[in-house]
Amino acid sequence: MNDLLYSHTYQIQGRDFEHGGEASSDIKEALKRMGINPQVIKRTAIASYEAEMNIIVYTEKGELLLEVYPKMIRVTATDRGPGIEDVELAMKEGYSTAPPEIREMGFGSGMGLPNIKKNADRLLIESHPGKGTKVIFEIDIPNASV
Ligand SMILES: Nc1ncnc2c1ncn2[C@@H]1O[C@H](COP(=O)(O)OP(=O)(O)OP(=O)(O)O)[C@@H](O)[C@H]1O
Ligand SMILES: [Mg+2]
Repeated sequence: MNDLLYSHTYQIQGRDFEHGGEASSDIKEALKRMGINPQVIKRTAIASYEAEMNIIVYTEKGELLLEVYPKMIRVTATDRGPGIEDVELAMKEGYSTAPPEIREMGFGSGMGLPNIKKNADRLLIESHPGKGTKVIFEIDIPNASV
């Protein structure tokens, strides 16, 4: 597990909707170049997008760290935002604190974190209200089929 094949850090600027989604599409391209299983790429890209947009919508700034190991991909999204008061509640489908102007942009369905959980094999959320949030998820790479 410690044979890291690739890693890259993406800085995410809060409220920068113009560049929203760029880090996750970059992650998708990097994984494609590495010849990773398309299903694994798709799941990683969806989960990364949700983590990226949450940083943009809710925080001042943050970053996504992509790490590729032979048997799994790990993405760590770290931000210095307001934190999540009740993580269990935030994980519920449909729960959102997004204000009206964010909803007008098409966000705020409360499906982001559930979507990460659905697409990842493992998900860990560590949040400290007033300090920030860390969302770590892993997606296993199945053994290459012959
Ligand atoms: N990085 C974060 N920092 C602070 N709060 C967050 C963060 N990520 C999520 N939250 C909180 O958890 C709630 C649920 O997040 P989730 O991504 O599931 O839904 P959403 O962002 O509200 O809507 P959607 O993702 O469907 O556009 C958010 O409304 C917000 O209150
Ligand atoms: Mg979201």
